[in-house]
Amino acid sequence: MTSMRILSGIQPTGRFHWGNYFGAIRQYIALQEENEAYYFIANLHALTTVREPQRLREATRDAALDLLALGLDPQRAVLFVQSDVPEVSELCWLLMTVAPLGLLERCHAFKEKKARGLMADAGLFTYPVLMAADILAYDADLVPVGEDQVQHIEVCRDLARSFNHLFGEVFTIPRAQLMERAAKVPGTDGEKMSKSYGNTIEIFEEPAAVRKKVMRMTTDSRPMEEPKDPESDHLYQLYALFVGEGERQAMADLYRRGGFGYGDVKKQLAAVAEQFFAEARQRRAELVRHGERVDEILAQGAVRARRKAGDVLRRAQRACGLSIA
Ligand code: ADP
Ligand code: TRP
Repeated sequence: MTSMRILSGIQPTGRFHWGNYFGAIRQYIALQEENEAYYFIANLHALTTVREPQRLREATRDAALDLLALGLDPQRAVLFVQSDVPEVSELCWLLMTVAPLGLLERCHAFKEKKARGLMADAGLFTYPVLMAADILAYDADLVPVGEDQVQHIEVCRDLARSFNHLFGEVFTIPRAQLMERAAKVPGTDGEKMSKSYGNTIEIFEEPAAVRKKVMRMTTDSRPMEEPKDPESDHLYQLYALFVGEGERQAMADLYRRGGFGYGDVKKQLAAVAEQFFAEARQRRAELVRHGERVDEILAQGAVRARRKAGDVLRRAQRACGLSIA
């Protein structure tokens, strides 16, 4: 495959959990190898829900620490904080002028809030337009996202096409890349792991706390002897994410034979998860000790991101008549 420009953003709304890792972060890291990748921490989007400044600051920093510890390599990918690139907010306005209200009214975040009778602000309503600016500002070709964001990429494509139709070929039309396993990682109750369901296990929780959560995970009450279908059990599904093919097969065989206790599976799950993230945990501790390195990485990321976004913004401004030079 030829090299593409990849871009994605992740919101700093809490500590990252296993679902975020297998559903998103792992893909970001894999894609940095062969492509030009831009990844950012979407703090402007988070502002639509996080209204505590200290929490937002901490979550933004934690997000950077987590991503770097997990293998995001600032030599390969550009890592930055969304609000460090003001060009994107300017571009957002240009896109706002070609964004039909009806299109935004159909977007699920706004629609759901309204359906529940809650007050929505213009930030939530125009959330997809800012997201479009995020993507178009870097001439991104591919946007790796989970299922829930595909609609927003469609909006982005629509806005880019409308702008191009009016003012010439300004924007690169991006494509969504649906991430494998997106929407699949189960939480401690067997439902999709999500902050909103309170069923998460965070990547960098203390191993003792992880063990405790794993040991308390819900299981069914079938007798030990009974053979079980591994694929439909959330403990197995999680275990399979952390181990190689051989161990996965062995566990699947155990399920099919029956005669095992969920307690043992849980112990094994906690052990493989601890092992899986052990190196990243060490890297994270090291980064915490050298906080200035993280500041430096984000500052350099912002410089590179602004350079690119500035070029695209000027192109768009010239095309629509904002620049008289
Ligand atoms: P949460 O549901 O906990 O609020 P986010 O919506 O912030 O998580 O998700 C950030 C990224 O992680 C998205 O790309 C999303 O698709 C992915 N993700 C979140 N939870 C899961 C999960 N349980 N399985 C797979 N991917 C997930
Ligand atoms: N809205 C995305 C989410 O909640 C985060 C995001 C913001 C994003 N801007 C983006 C993702 C641009 C991809 C591209 O997951």
